[in-house]
Amino acid sequence: MNLGISGKRALVTGGSRGMGRACAAALAAEGAEVFIVARKLPVLENAAAEIAAATGAKVVAVQGDITTPEGRAAALAACPSPDILINNGDGEPPGDFREWDRARWITALDRMMLAPIEMIRLTVDGMMDRRFGRVVNIVSRSVKIPQLELGLSNGARSGLVGFCAGLARQTIAKGVTINNILPGIVASDAQRDHVQGLVEMTGRPFDDIWAERSRRNPAGRYGEPDEIGAYAAFLCSGKAGFITGQSLLIDGGEYPGTY
Ligand SMILES: NC(=O)c1ccc[n+]([C@@H]2O[C@H](COP(=O)([O-])OP(=O)(O)OC[C@H]3O[C@@H](n4cnc5c(N)ncnc54)[C@H](OP(=O)(O)O)[C@@H]3O)[C@@H](O)[C@H]2O)c1
Repeated sequence: MNLGISGKRALVTGGSRGMGRACAAALAAEGAEVFIVARKLPVLENAAAEIAAATGAKVVAVQGDITTPEGRAAALAACPSPDILINNGDGEPPGDFREWDRARWITALDRMMLAPIEMIRLTVDGMMDRRFGRVVNIVSRSVKIPQLELGLSNGARSGLVGFCAGLARQTIAKGVTINNILPGIVASDAQRDHVQGLVEMTGRPFDDIWAERSRRNPAGRYGEPDEIGAYAAFLCSGKAGFITGQSLLIDGGEYPGTY
């Protein structure tokens, strides 16, 4: 299937590792010009070089922290008028809500709600003027299945999804769709960090928790970042112009409901 996005400009925040990198690679493979943003330079530059070598696409590395105004400005200086925006970044480790004071909540909101909303605010009018735009937020299944130890994610990510639910119905008439991908367990650095957090909370061995999470999934395994990248590329394609305001699980069937 030709996704029809050759030559489009794609800005991928959190694009140097894991699912963000996989989204960047899938978009580059479809001929998009890709701009990837992350904080740590060597990993970022390696990712850009490897994606460019594998796809032949133009891939630009932009160093910046997307939770700061300076980081967002650097991203938009490199790619002032993106056609595609993948909003991705850090989550928060598991913990006990009794230990989360206001400052902790503000950090979580910056990471999982306010930075992506700000990126949308800064790009969506241009997309509408050009009559094409795709925004995909990499969120979490936590907005559909509250994960007991991930209250910061349950709360902050629900704010992003709730905001986008309204906006997505205002932008689609101008060719701009906004959707959320809700990953379940995906084998990546963030998943390993999460399991390490559970090790610290429970005292159980890492390998036991890792294997148990995989066994508990109906697919009997973790998802691969490339599987999320392919889904995101489809949502960013010319074929997906009638899909908006959706929160789409990709979790090996672990969400237990029928709908
Ligand atoms: N893996 C899972 O199973 C899973 C499931 C549900 C939800 N999620 C969520 O999905 C998102 C992506 O997960 P992942 O597993 O792909 O993560 P990952 O492998 O840890 O990669 C995160 C990427 O985001 C970048 N990043 C983080 N904070 C940033 C910031 N402030 N500014 C710019 N770049 C930033 C990182 O690079 P630098 O560190 O160099 O900045 C890296 O490129 C996270 O929010 C995670 O919580 C993950």
